[in-house]
Amino acid sequence: MQNGAVCPNAGAETGKCHCDDLAHGGPAERISFHGVVGKSRSMQNVFKLIERVADSDSTILINGETGTGKGLVAKAIHASSYRKDKPFVAINCGAIPENLLESELFGHVKGAFTGATSAKVGKFEVANGGTIFLDEIGDMSPDLQVKVLKVLEEREFEPVGGCKTVKVDVRIIAATHRDLEEAVQKNNFREDLFYRLYVIPIQLPSLKDRQMDIPLLTNFFMSKLNREKRTQVENITPRAMEALMRHAWPGNVRELANMLERLVVLKGEGTLDVEDLPTKIKPSGEFQPIPAMDMAMPDLCREGICLNTAVSEFEKNLIYQSLEQTDWVKNKAAKLLQVKRTTLVEKIKRYDLQKCA
Ligand SMILES: Nc1ncnc2c1ncn2[C@@H]1O[C@H](COP(=O)(O)OP(=O)(O)O)[C@@H](O)[C@H]1O
Ligand SMILES: [Mg+2]
Repeated sequence: MQNGAVCPNAGAETGKCHCDDLAHGGPAERISFHGVVGKSRSMQNVFKLIERVADSDSTILINGETGTGKGLVAKAIHASSYRKDKPFVAINCGAIPENLLESELFGHVKGAFTGATSAKVGKFEVANGGTIFLDEIGDMSPDLQVKVLKVLEEREFEPVGGCKTVKVDVRIIAATHRDLEEAVQKNNFREDLFYRLYVIPIQLPSLKDRQMDIPLLTNFFMSKLNREKRTQVENITPRAMEALMRHAWPGNVRELANMLERLVVLKGEGTLDVEDLPTKIKPSGEFQPIPAMDMAMPDLCREGICLNTAVSEFEKNLIYQSLEQTDWVKNKAAKLLQVKRTTLVEKIKRYDLQKCA
């Protein structure tokens, strides 16, 4: 848990924050999972899915807009798998020129092509025993798609220019911001490779669809930045936070993180206010309460759920969200929730809500 971040999961009896304590509670109780931060229902579902599939060795295809955390989630899967002490090797298939990508992935023998003055071990071999992360796989050329399909099917390949087959034991995680099903329909992506990859799909939600994560992420990044940049920007005003929550964030978490870095470094110390925000994010009208969206809701499983518990959970989340939004100024939070301050204080006490140290 970071400085200033609010912990609605603090234990009722002890008041201790359990968020990063992986030994306690299920993943649904966490607001940070191997560095991936989020308490919205959609992110809680991602955490649960990661935990369920981590040790399965099944191929995973992560899909989501740019900046939604595909790379971070891939690392979290590796870190929670039995392969965690072996290499995690990432390669961005969209950033490497096509003619170099093959030898990057599979390696090459000496003299395989002009300039290959020595043999090179490819990423698949480097990742042996661990995980290879094929980022932006939707940008891979059809020729290479065939070769990757072969590794997926047989777990073996030949380095460029070589004739010796190399066998590897790697977990494959792929990611793309593209709609691969559409790419298959348009003949831009091989159908057989798509189905080989589409074993466990993980869809990462856009930031605008999990508005309740914005205060949490903002506090997380501000604390991290204060540590890294030796700044003391400890707070953000409710109005500035509200503006952040209303922004559409086309660049998702990456855009939020980069903007906060700029604001924190330029401010140096004190409290971030609306004047510090870029024009496109500054609010234009009156202060309005943020509608409660995408609350972390329990699954309505076959055994059913206890209505009272579910309603309490919802209330707790809503109170937490209003406190975050008002920087824990109880008068303002009570106003947002249209309850008396005393009622709010009583509920904060009952749910044992507090800022984590
Ligand atoms: N849920 C999250 N919690 C904390 N940091 C995040 C989260 N999602 C993304 N980030 C950060 O945002 C940046 C972009 O994430 P990345 O995994 O590279 O996104 P993508 O691969 O989807 O473009 C990284 O600095 C990453 O650490
Ligand atoms: Mg990425």
